[in-house]
Amino acid sequence: MKNIAIFASGTGTNFQAIVDAVKTDKLSAVIKLLVCDRQDAYSIERAIKEKIPSFVFTAKEYASKEEYETEILQRLKELEIDYVVLAGYMRLIGPTLLKNYEGRIINIHPSLLPAFPGKDAIGQALKAKVKESGVSIHFVDEGMDTGPIIAQQSVSLSENETIESLQAKIHEIEHKLYPQVLQRLFTTSQEDNK
Ligand code: GAR
Repeated sequence: MKNIAIFASGTGTNFQAIVDAVKTDKLSAVIKLLVCDRQDAYSIERAIKEKIPSFVFTAKEYASKEEYETEILQRLKELEIDYVVLAGYMRLIGPTLLKNYEGRIINIHPSLLPAFPGKDAIGQALKAKVKESGVSIHFVDEGMDTGPIIAQQSVSLSENETIESLQAKIHEIEHKLYPQVLQRLFTTSQEDNK
């Protein structure tokens, strides 16, 4: 059974989908920690309700990324975290976490990467007037949404698509796809075969 930490900066609907998948035995993992970089994020309320401990930090209060990531890393080690799952975590992961969790940090992004990396991928897709967008799940590397793709699912945009309607379609895909992909990854990973 894998121990995971979920990093989420926002409302945490993906955090909730992963929690629900664990509770209904669709995902074999133990969610040991929420890491959040915003004091006002709704994901914190969700973690409290689910009795999942959280580490909430304010980046500005640290001298550098290395400093706050060192503190996060210490907690990940204490909790024997196997995988870091990014679910709407809006910061680049730095070398401190990357070198300790190489190949074990996963991200979900609301576009068909390499299209529309970075912030506001949904707004970028609408502005570009594409007919198709989607969801990507990938391993995290030092770039912005650039690591090797694990899975993608596409969605069609309608003529009168809005940010809200596209976000709803994307969330619907994400909430199913992310737990499924994590389950596949956790149950086929090398360590289990040792
Ligand atoms: C999700 O759509 C996720 O793909 C996106 O943030 C949203 C978080 O929603 N992530 C990124 O844009 C990462 N670059 P949630 O807080 O409701 O899970």
